[in-house]
Amino acid sequence: MTLSELKIYKSQGKKITCLTAYDASFSQLFDECGVDTILVGDSLGNVIQGGENTLAVSMDDMIYHTKAAAQGVKTALLIADMPYQSYTNSQQALDNAKLLIAAGGEMVKFEGGSEHKDIFQILQANNIPVCGHLGLQPQSVIEMGGYKVQGKDEKGAQKIIDDALALESWGVEVLVLECVPAELAKKISQALSIPTIGIGAGVDCDGQVLVSYDMLGITQGGALKFVKNFLTESGDIKTAVNNFISAVKQQEFPSDQHSY
Ligand code: KIV
Repeated sequence: MTLSELKIYKSQGKKITCLTAYDASFSQLFDECGVDTILVGDSLGNVIQGGENTLAVSMDDMIYHTKAAAQGVKTALLIADMPYQSYTNSQQALDNAKLLIAAGGEMVKFEGGSEHKDIFQILQANNIPVCGHLGLQPQSVIEMGGYKVQGKDEKGAQKIIDDALALESWGVEVLVLECVPAELAKKISQALSIPTIGIGAGVDCDGQVLVSYDMLGITQGGALKFVKNFLTESGDIKTAVNNFISAVKQQEFPSDQHSY
Protein backbone atom coordinates (compact mmCIF):
# COMPACT_ATOMS: atom_id res chain seq x y z
CA MET A 1 0.00 0.00 0.00
CA THR A 2 1.39 3.36 -1.01
CA LEU A 3 0.22 6.92 -0.56
CA SER A 4 -0.61 7.16 -4.27
CA GLU A 5 -2.77 4.03 -3.96
CA LEU A 6 -4.62 5.60 -1.02
CA LYS A 7 -5.35 8.64 -3.20
CA ILE A 8 -6.61 6.35 -5.98
CA TYR A 9 -8.84 4.62 -3.41
CA LYS A 10 -10.32 8.01 -2.57
CA SER A 11 -10.88 8.96 -6.20
CA GLN A 12 -12.58 5.61 -6.83
CA GLY A 13 -14.71 5.83 -3.67
CA LYS A 14 -12.99 2.73 -2.20
CA LYS A 15 -12.90 2.97 1.59
CA ILE A 16 -9.59 2.74 3.48
CA THR A 17 -9.17 0.58 6.59
CA CYS A 18 -6.83 1.33 9.48
CA LEU A 19 -6.24 -0.41 12.82
CA THR A 20 -3.72 0.39 15.51
CA ALA A 21 -0.96 -2.13 16.28
CA TYR A 22 1.92 -1.88 18.70
CA ASP A 23 3.72 -5.17 18.18
CA ALA A 24 4.71 -7.61 15.44
CA SER A 25 2.08 -10.28 16.17
CA PHE A 26 -0.89 -7.95 15.78
CA SER A 27 0.58 -6.00 12.85
CA GLN A 28 1.26 -9.27 11.01
CA LEU A 29 -2.27 -10.52 11.63
CA PHE A 30 -3.83 -7.24 10.45
CA ASP A 31 -1.50 -7.12 7.45
CA GLU A 32 -2.36 -10.69 6.44
CA CYS A 33 -6.09 -9.93 6.77
CA GLY A 34 -5.60 -7.04 4.31
CA VAL A 35 -5.93 -3.96 6.52
CA ASP A 36 -4.75 -1.06 4.31
CA THR A 37 -2.94 1.05 6.90
CA ILE A 38 -1.63 0.25 10.36
CA LEU A 39 -1.14 2.96 12.95
CA VAL A 40 1.35 2.69 15.79
CA GLY A 41 -0.76 5.09 17.83
CA ASP A 42 0.23 6.87 20.99
CA SER A 43 -3.00 5.29 22.26
CA LEU A 44 -0.47 2.72 23.48
CA GLY A 45 -0.29 5.06 26.49
CA ASN A 46 -3.81 3.88 27.33
CA VAL A 47 -4.01 0.33 26.07
CA ILE A 48 -0.44 -0.90 26.68
CA GLN A 49 0.77 1.32 29.51
CA GLY A 50 -2.56 1.66 31.32
CA GLY A 51 -2.42 5.46 31.51
CA GLU A 52 -5.47 7.72 31.77
CA ASN A 53 -4.29 9.63 28.69
CA THR A 54 -1.48 9.61 26.13
CA LEU A 55 0.66 12.32 27.71
CA ALA A 56 3.24 10.01 29.31
CA VAL A 57 4.21 8.33 26.02
CA SER A 58 7.83 9.06 25.07
CA MET A 59 9.78 9.00 21.82
CA ASP A 60 11.62 5.92 23.13
CA ASP A 61 8.26 4.18 23.59
CA MET A 62 7.18 5.11 20.05
CA ILE A 63 10.47 3.98 18.53
CA TYR A 64 10.31 0.64 20.38
CA HIS A 65 6.73 -0.10 19.31
CA THR A 66 7.23 1.18 15.74
CA LYS A 67 10.21 -1.16 15.33
CA ALA A 68 8.19 -4.06 16.70
CA ALA A 69 5.10 -3.37 14.56
CA ALA A 70 7.24 -2.85 11.44
CA GLN A 71 8.52 -6.43 11.75
CA GLY A 72 5.05 -7.81 11.04
CA VAL A 73 4.09 -5.59 8.09
CA LYS A 74 4.56 -6.62 4.47
CA THR A 75 1.84 -4.79 2.59
CA ALA A 76 0.03 -2.22 4.74
CA LEU A 77 1.23 1.37 5.06
CA LEU A 78 2.73 1.85 8.53
CA ILE A 79 2.01 5.18 10.23
CA ALA A 80 3.83 6.15 13.44
CA ASP A 81 2.47 8.68 15.93
CA MET A 82 4.62 11.51 17.24
CA PRO A 83 4.06 11.62 21.01
CA TYR A 84 3.27 14.58 23.27
CA GLN A 85 6.06 17.21 23.41
CA SER A 86 8.02 15.59 20.56
CA TYR A 87 7.19 18.38 18.08
CA THR A 88 7.42 21.61 20.04
CA ASN A 89 9.57 23.27 17.32
CA SER A 90 10.41 22.44 13.73
CA GLN A 91 13.96 21.14 14.28
CA GLN A 92 12.86 18.87 17.13
CA ALA A 93 9.93 17.64 15.02
CA LEU A 94 12.21 16.89 12.07
CA ASP A 95 14.75 15.02 14.24
CA ASN A 96 12.03 12.95 15.90
CA ALA A 97 10.17 12.25 12.65
CA LYS A 98 13.44 10.93 11.18
CA LEU A 99 13.81 8.58 14.17
CA LEU A 100 10.31 7.16 13.59
CA ILE A 101 10.99 6.67 9.89
CA ALA A 102 14.31 4.96 10.76
CA ALA A 103 12.34 2.69 13.12
CA GLY A 104 10.18 1.52 10.19
CA GLY A 105 7.33 4.05 9.99
CA GLU A 106 6.45 5.10 6.45
CA MET A 107 4.55 8.19 7.53
CA VAL A 108 4.38 10.16 10.77
CA LYS A 109 1.21 11.52 12.35
CA PHE A 110 0.84 14.37 14.77
CA GLU A 111 -2.05 16.34 16.22
CA GLY A 112 -2.95 19.96 15.53
CA GLY A 113 -3.55 22.56 12.86
CA SER A 114 -2.13 25.83 11.59
CA GLU A 115 -0.19 26.47 14.82
CA HIS A 116 2.24 23.85 13.43
CA LYS A 117 2.69 25.47 10.00
CA ASP A 118 6.52 25.50 10.28
CA ILE A 119 6.57 21.84 11.22
CA PHE A 120 4.37 20.74 8.32
CA GLN A 121 6.59 22.75 5.98
CA ILE A 122 9.94 21.45 7.25
CA LEU A 123 8.72 17.83 7.07
CA GLN A 124 7.44 18.39 3.54
CA ALA A 125 10.78 19.98 2.55
CA ASN A 126 12.52 16.86 3.91
CA ASN A 127 10.20 14.43 2.09
CA ILE A 128 8.74 12.96 5.26
CA PRO A 129 5.13 11.91 4.62
CA VAL A 130 2.75 13.39 7.18
CA CYS A 131 -0.70 12.36 8.40
CA GLY A 132 -2.56 15.19 10.14
CA HIS A 133 -4.96 14.73 13.06
CA LEU A 134 -7.80 17.22 13.66
CA GLY A 135 -10.98 17.29 15.73
CA LEU A 136 -10.49 15.74 19.14
CA GLN A 137 -6.77 15.75 19.89
CA PRO A 138 -6.06 13.43 22.83
CA GLN A 139 -2.69 15.12 23.53
CA SER A 140 -4.67 18.33 24.23
CA VAL A 141 -7.32 16.59 26.31
CA ILE A 142 -6.77 18.95 29.23
CA GLU A 143 -7.08 22.14 27.09
CA MET A 144 -10.10 20.64 25.27
CA GLY A 145 -11.87 20.02 28.57
CA GLY A 146 -12.02 16.23 28.23
CA TYR A 147 -12.83 13.75 25.47
CA LYS A 148 -15.55 15.80 23.79
CA VAL A 149 -16.93 16.03 20.25
CA GLN A 150 -15.27 18.93 18.42
CA GLY A 151 -16.67 21.31 15.78
CA LYS A 152 -20.24 21.27 17.04
CA ASP A 153 -20.70 25.05 16.72
CA GLU A 154 -20.14 27.11 13.57
CA LYS A 155 -16.90 28.72 14.78
CA GLY A 156 -15.38 25.42 15.88
CA ALA A 157 -16.42 23.72 12.65
CA GLN A 158 -14.95 26.52 10.51
CA LYS A 159 -11.62 26.29 12.36
CA ILE A 160 -11.40 22.55 11.59
CA ILE A 161 -12.27 23.18 7.91
CA ASP A 162 -9.66 25.97 7.65
CA ASP A 163 -7.02 23.80 9.33
CA ALA A 164 -7.80 20.84 7.05
CA LEU A 165 -7.37 22.98 3.92
CA ALA A 166 -4.17 24.52 5.29
CA LEU A 167 -2.70 21.11 6.13
CA GLU A 168 -3.39 19.87 2.61
CA SER A 169 -1.67 22.96 1.18
CA TRP A 170 1.38 22.22 3.38
CA GLY A 171 1.78 18.74 1.95
CA VAL A 172 -0.11 16.60 4.46
CA GLU A 173 -1.13 13.42 2.60
CA VAL A 174 -3.68 11.78 4.90
CA LEU A 175 -5.88 13.36 7.58
CA VAL A 176 -7.36 11.69 10.66
CA LEU A 177 -10.61 13.28 11.85
CA GLU A 178 -11.48 12.29 15.40
CA CYS A 179 -14.86 12.84 17.09
CA VAL A 180 -16.44 15.43 14.84
CA PRO A 181 -20.06 15.53 13.64
CA ALA A 182 -20.64 13.27 10.62
CA GLU A 183 -21.86 16.19 8.46
CA LEU A 184 -18.69 18.19 9.14
CA ALA A 185 -16.44 15.21 8.35
CA LYS A 186 -18.36 14.69 5.10
CA LYS A 187 -17.89 18.34 4.10
CA ILE A 188 -14.15 18.20 4.84
CA SER A 189 -13.71 14.88 3.01
CA GLN A 190 -15.42 16.34 -0.05
CA ALA A 191 -13.35 19.54 0.07
CA LEU A 192 -9.97 17.75 0.23
CA SER A 193 -8.18 15.74 -2.43
CA ILE A 194 -6.23 13.81 0.24
CA PRO A 195 -7.97 10.92 2.04
CA THR A 196 -9.58 11.44 5.44
CA ILE A 197 -9.66 8.61 7.97
CA GLY A 198 -12.35 8.98 10.60
CA ILE A 199 -12.82 7.77 14.14
CA GLY A 200 -16.16 8.84 15.55
CA ALA A 201 -16.60 11.00 12.45
CA GLY A 202 -19.31 9.23 10.46
CA VAL A 203 -19.41 6.98 7.43
CA ASP A 204 -18.52 9.59 4.81
CA CYS A 205 -14.82 9.83 5.64
CA ASP A 206 -12.59 8.14 3.06
CA GLY A 207 -11.57 5.53 5.61
CA GLN A 208 -12.04 4.40 9.19
CA VAL A 209 -9.61 3.74 12.04
CA LEU A 210 -10.21 2.02 15.36
CA VAL A 211 -7.94 1.30 18.28
CA SER A 212 -7.57 -2.48 17.86
CA TYR A 213 -7.93 -3.22 21.58
CA ASP A 214 -11.26 -1.36 21.55
CA MET A 215 -12.63 -3.22 18.52
CA LEU A 216 -11.64 -6.51 20.14
CA GLY A 217 -13.47 -5.57 23.34
CA ILE A 218 -10.33 -5.71 25.48
CA THR A 219 -10.59 -2.16 26.83
CA GLN A 220 -13.23 0.13 28.27
CA GLY A 221 -13.03 1.98 24.93
CA GLY A 222 -15.71 -0.46 23.84
CA ALA A 223 -18.15 1.62 25.86
CA LEU A 224 -17.48 4.69 23.70
CA LYS A 225 -20.27 5.51 21.27
CA PHE A 226 -18.08 5.36 18.17
CA VAL A 227 -16.49 1.99 18.99
CA LYS A 228 -17.88 -1.35 17.90
CA ASN A 229 -16.70 -4.60 19.45
CA PHE A 230 -16.24 -6.81 16.36
CA LEU A 231 -15.17 -9.84 18.41
CA THR A 232 -18.55 -10.48 20.04
CA GLU A 233 -20.23 -11.53 16.79
CA SER A 234 -17.11 -13.18 15.33
CA GLY A 235 -15.67 -15.49 17.94
CA ASP A 236 -12.05 -15.22 16.82
CA ILE A 237 -9.70 -12.33 16.14
CA LYS A 238 -9.10 -12.99 12.40
CA THR A 239 -12.83 -13.13 11.68
CA ALA A 240 -13.36 -9.96 13.74
CA VAL A 241 -10.71 -8.12 11.70
CA ASN A 242 -12.14 -9.43 8.41
CA ASN A 243 -15.61 -8.31 9.53
CA PHE A 244 -14.23 -4.85 10.39
CA ILE A 245 -12.67 -4.65 6.91
CA SER A 246 -15.83 -5.63 5.10
CA ALA A 247 -18.05 -3.40 7.26
CA VAL A 248 -15.83 -0.39 6.41
CA LYS A 249 -15.55 -1.29 2.71
CA GLN A 250 -19.32 -1.73 2.41
CA GLN A 251 -19.97 1.44 4.43
CA GLU A 252 -21.86 -0.46 7.09
CA PHE A 253 -19.51 0.86 9.78
CA PRO A 254 -19.87 3.31 11.35
CA SER A 255 -23.65 3.25 11.43
CA ASP A 256 -25.59 6.26 12.79
CA GLN A 257 -25.45 4.49 16.14
CA HIS A 258 -21.64 4.93 16.11
CA SER A 259 -21.59 8.53 14.79
CA TYR A 260 -22.17 12.01 16.18
O1 KIV B 1 -3.24 7.03 18.92
C1 KIV B 1 -4.16 6.55 18.25
O2 KIV B 1 -4.49 5.37 18.30
C2 KIV B 1 -4.86 7.47 17.36
C3 KIV B 1 -6.14 6.98 16.74
C4 KIV B 1 -7.22 7.01 17.74
C5 KIV B 1 -6.49 7.75 15.53
O3 KIV B 1 -4.44 8.56 17.17
